[in-house]
Amino acid sequence: MQTTKHFAVIGNPIAHSRSPELHQAFAQKTGITLVYNKRLAQIGQFESSIDEFFKNHGTGLNVTVPFKEDAFKACDVLTERAKIAKAVNTLWQKEGKLYGDNTDGQGLVNAINALEWPLSQSRILILGAGGATRGVIFPLAEAGAHEIVIANRTLSRATQLIQDLSPHIQNTSLNAVGLDQLTGHFDIVINATSASLSGDTLLLPESLTFNYAYEMAYGKPSHFLDEAKKRNIPYADGFGMLVGQAIESFYIWNGTRPNLKDFL
Ligand code: ATR
Repeated sequence: MQTTKHFAVIGNPIAHSRSPELHQAFAQKTGITLVYNKRLAQIGQFESSIDEFFKNHGTGLNVTVPFKEDAFKACDVLTERAKIAKAVNTLWQKEGKLYGDNTDGQGLVNAINALEWPLSQSRILILGAGGATRGVIFPLAEAGAHEIVIANRTLSRATQLIQDLSPHIQNTSLNAVGLDQLTGHFDIVINATSASLSGDTLLLPESLTFNYAYEMAYGKPSHFLDEAKKRNIPYADGFGMLVGQAIESFYIWNGTRPNLKDFL
């Protein structure tokens, strides 16, 4: 008989998380029996909460805002992409050690692949230079992007990020630009700013053109997507990325990878 594995997503706040329903849907599709809960941790009590979870025979944890950097620091063993992202969203234990990975960037790559937008040899523009951008550059480069330009309101933050990441990126050229200097043509533009989350406008100059628009946020009004709609450009919000990162976590823990297109 199959034993029931226990999973949870830990964050603060956590009530809004869609991870439990996604993982239940993957379990149903793949014939795995699991329990997946939401776990609220108080600020400053992240480590004690994960200790308790694993002591009680939990198999794996997803980590969300604001604990991804705490999770990164808590791990004994990290994957390469987690080291580069400096953030962890997937935890498990093996032989008494805490392992951490970051599946967010691969989740974005999977979502873009499911949309059948071209990544190989592409010229990609990422708006924003925060944690969300840091997590996706290495997976996008591994997926074959020819050039990634990071545009940020504060140019120095984009320049610093590129300096940090360059040693890890071999075949993709990385460039930084100020948000107000944007111009030229890109295959895909990805909005990784928190502008949509805070309801801010994000003005894009006419001289910036692109074929596809991806908004990392989902379930929020997005000026970036309004602009894509106005320009009649194919677009998507971050739901596919959410499903994509969940599938990669599910794969780490359960060894089987559901098909993203079945859950969109
Ligand atoms: P996250 O971890 O989600 O990336 P973050 O580290 O706070 O969050 O980064 C937010 C990003 O959104 C930054 O790149 C920020 O630009 P600055 O570095 O100049 O602050 C960007 N951002 C937030 N609001 C914005 C707005 N209204 N217009 C343009 N960029 C914005």
